[in-house]
Amino acid sequence: MSNRVYIFDTTLRDGEQSPGVSLNVAEKLEIARQLARLGIDIIEAGFPITSPGDFNAVSAIAREIRGVTVAGLARPSFADIDRAWGALQQAEQPRIHIFLATSNIHMEHKLRMSREQVIETAVAGVKRAKGYTADVEFSAEDASRSDLDFLCRVVEAVIAAGATTINIPDTVGYAIPEEFGAFIKGLMQGARGIEQVTLSVHCHDDLGLAVANSLAAVRAGARQVEGAINGIGERAGNASLEEVIMSLYTRRDFYGLETGVSTEEIYRTSKLVSKLTGMTVQPNKAVVGKNAFAHEAGIHQDGMLKNPTTYEIMNPALVGISQSNLVLGKHSGRHAFRSRLVELGFSLDEDELNKAFIRFKEMADRKKEITDQDIEAIVENEIHEAPVTYELAYLHISSGTTVVPTATVGLNRGEELMEEAACGNGPVDAICKAVDKITGYQCRLASWEISAITAGKDALGEVVLRIAENNLEKLYMGRGISTDILEASARAYIDAVNKMIGEKNNGK
Ligand code: KIV
Ligand code: ZN
Repeated sequence: MSNRVYIFDTTLRDGEQSPGVSLNVAEKLEIARQLARLGIDIIEAGFPITSPGDFNAVSAIAREIRGVTVAGLARPSFADIDRAWGALQQAEQPRIHIFLATSNIHMEHKLRMSREQVIETAVAGVKRAKGYTADVEFSAEDASRSDLDFLCRVVEAVIAAGATTINIPDTVGYAIPEEFGAFIKGLMQGARGIEQVTLSVHCHDDLGLAVANSLAAVRAGARQVEGAINGIGERAGNASLEEVIMSLYTRRDFYGLETGVSTEEIYRTSKLVSKLTGMTVQPNKAVVGKNAFAHEAGIHQDGMLKNPTTYEIMNPALVGISQSNLVLGKHSGRHAFRSRLVELGFSLDEDELNKAFIRFKEMADRKKEITDQDIEAIVENEIHEAPVTYELAYLHISSGTTVVPTATVGLNRGEELMEEAACGNGPVDAICKAVDKITGYQCRLASWEISAITAGKDALGEVVLRIAENNLEKLYMGRGISTDILEASARAYIDAVNKMIGEKNNGK
């Protein structure tokens, strides 16, 4: 059996099913480019039949991304499969991914199909997809709660029809590692032809066991693992790919397996996904959390100083986390700023560099020391791929315990300065209302979160919020940073409004 484990990333499909997450085509492309740099083997770019936006994103990724398999999801209906192929056909290595449930619960209550109908439908779907591409994956949805003998029959039938990857999802995150490993072994022994295909697993994290289940399956013989960056996805999310990858790497003595991933790209990928989805990474998250390599206890710090291997099983540099304590300040020039950006792995064009440097200087006037995290935040928040309609020119707030909160906001739209004032039941409400008066859109604030980028009273605050037009469901996420949290709120709100306008202009 091969010792290579293929990594299948579904951040753009299952990950995008996380509540409140909605990525546009440009954002999906940006993530796909980074996934390719990371060395992912298969990128599941979307579910083309579900919306024109999904179709366009899969097509754009299929057209541009090279050296990586690009997959599109489809139910076994011919309409789904034809639409998936429509989006995938320009890919260098296209894969059609078909799924159909095989558990009694799903067949009886959701599909209302007999076992025979499920087998026939799955086989017909795989054959249809095979007419388009040699690379066809079949997923038995809710496989972990399926009857093993029946699952073996389904798997044999779809392999005979041409499936080249068989995926076994723990769709509802119900499995337990030992049990799931044994289930995979049972399948390998019970399904004829399984040795000719790649056996894959796709685990959800409802009991916090998605990574452990994936690794148990790999021990049992699975050679493809599906998951998402930062573990995002439906409900409690998918297996966190960075954890799977670093477990296989750090404990290669135990697993004796390898992936094709460039681990130094992990941190940057995690930051990008967090930035574009608006899903913040919990500080104690393994591998990529803010505290993953922080040592607080005195005894630990002492050990670290004597020899880092006392308390560190992975070198942070291995996942691309910079360890420099270098700080910049208001006397640092453009050259020092640019060099630090390069060391941190950013490559900005001249225009982006100018914008980032202006924001750096503004911050350095208010904050004594600018750390690497601050610089990362500046680049992540201030550099926008898509053109922006409105930019914050100024903000004036009057607020307190005995006054009605009032905001006066100036926004630049191209060369034009537009100004409005509004009262609200709090300063953030007043800011949003003043912005709405300028843009003409009436929006509601669906969520608002703040966190500090670094420690200290002068820390940068980062606001992540979501807005929707009044009476509409669709959410738009915005982010903003500043040492002043009201300014950060205004920037985040304007960012979300710009995304909403951008999408309307693109007719998504
Ligand atoms: O969780 C699941 O079963 C899925 C399939 C579509 C693979 O996401
Ligand atoms: Zn899933």
